Amino acid sequence: MFLRFRRLRRCQCVQLMTTCLVLSVVMVCWEQLDNHVVSHVKSYSYRYLVNGFSYINKSFTIPREQARSFSNFRYLLDHPDKCANKDVLLLLFVKTSPGNTERRKAIRSTWGNETYIQNTLGVTVRVVFALGSPRTKTDEPSWRTRSRLGPQEQLIREDRLHGDLIQQDFLDSFHNLTLKLILQFHWMHSRCAHARFLMTADDDIFVHMPNLVSYLQDMSRRGVTNFWIGRVHRGAPPIRRKDSKYYVPYEMYPWLSYPDYTAGAGYVVSSDAADKIYQATLTLNASLYIDDVFMGICANAVGVSPQEHVYFSGEGTAPYHMCIYDQMMTSHGHVENIYDLWKAATRPQVKRWSSGVVGRLYCTAVKMALLCKPYYVNTYPCKAAFL
Ligand SMILES: *[C@@H]1O[C@H](CO)[C@@H](O)[C@H](O)[C@H]1NC(C)=O
Ligand SMILES: *[C@@H]1O[C@H](CO)[C@@H](O)[C@H](O)[C@H]1NC(C)=O
Ligand SMILES: *[C@@H]1O[C@H](CO)[C@@H](O)[C@H](O)[C@H]1NC(C)=O
Ligand SMILES: *[C@@H]1O[C@H](CO)[C@@H](O)[C@H](O)[C@H]1NC(C)=O
Repeated sequence: MFLRFRRLRRCQCVQLMTTCLVLSVVMVCWEQLDNHVVSHVKSYSYRYLVNGFSYINKSFTIPREQARSFSNFRYLLDHPDKCANKDVLLLLFVKTSPGNTERRKAIRSTWGNETYIQNTLGVTVRVVFALGSPRTKTDEPSWRTRSRLGPQEQLIREDRLHGDLIQQDFLDSFHNLTLKLILQFHWMHSRCAHARFLMTADDDIFVHMPNLVSYLQDMSRRGVTNFWIGRVHRGAPPIRRKDSKYYVPYEMYPWLSYPDYTAGAGYVVSSDAADKIYQATLTLNASLYIDDVFMGICANAVGVSPQEHVYFSGEGTAPYHMCIYDQMMTSHGHVENIYDLWKAATRPQVKRWSSGVVGRLYCTAVKMALLCKPYYVNTYPCKAAFL
């Protein structure tokens, strides 16, 4: 009897402790979830109430001499004649870092192969890599190769082979991404202004080049202007948690919501819009280091607004399926599998899969199963299944 009582007490004690533990975990999580939900709701309502964000333009405008400090970096590697005497449909900037040699190699031999695009799709696309300067200390693991060359010498050698690196003399770091954005628009303005579209992309995305090219040809035929397309973030709140990569202090951005912008993973602008953005970078304070948000601020200042395309992905990776390849534009988070995906996506039988009434029905069902998830995955939205 006594023994059973003791055991019961111990049991209860364990139960009580477990309950406390679970409760505190739930409360901690709830607080985070709550903060998240509250800040999104506040941000979203704010966005609809303020309607315009014109004060952002005012508060970010600085004298031109001061704005120049964000763009007057020296070119360490440059190719001024890259677009010369060509009718360039698309100038595609891949944002890369000095150490990502393998990613650049993969892109050159898959979706970024200019020769393939010219021969197979019959258009001129220029694919160039935007980067800053490497740290002088060889502290990145990717540099610990047996090569005795320093990081910059390796880049020079790579560029001599491929002729596609555009590098400026600012330190290549996360907090300098906005400088890389400005580099792209300035380079286009001075070296490739006649390209019909500008795309900026991460070096770990997959671009379905045949789909993108035929889409842009269509847009070009229609003579679109003020065009900016990608995965749109509407009413996104600034992140105020200091431990986040995307932390932005109040002094840098005091408002509850960012103007609309597209996910930096990959988006396209028409040349007239690109020129307007270029003009905006001449007068705005580019200290805000989140480059896609800064792009939104520039666009807002010159009256360009982003449009949504359901087959541009955000941070997410598109599910693998023939029915998806038929329509996809970009997908994020590909490093090793880019070769397989390129092979699978450009195989001629892809189109056959989704043609005819039965094919279309089948693909709609497959896409619903793959895309219509009850939880948030930042790839293609559910509505993409019905297009
Ligand atoms: C690019 O494509 C061309 C033509 O299809 C091919 O000959 C060449 O090997 C490719 N380049 C690379 C780096 O894979
Ligand atoms: C950005 O680049 C400049 C110029 O190289 C450098 O002085 C600065 O430290 C860099 N900023 C960050 C946050 O890396
Ligand atoms: C630009 O913004 C930063 C951060 O908000 C601020 O510290 C800096 O003084 C501003 N620059 C100018 C020239 O106003
Ligand atoms: C943004 O500010 C600049 C300078 O203050 C002004 O010239 C421009 O018209 C403004 N743009 C908009 C869209 O209000």
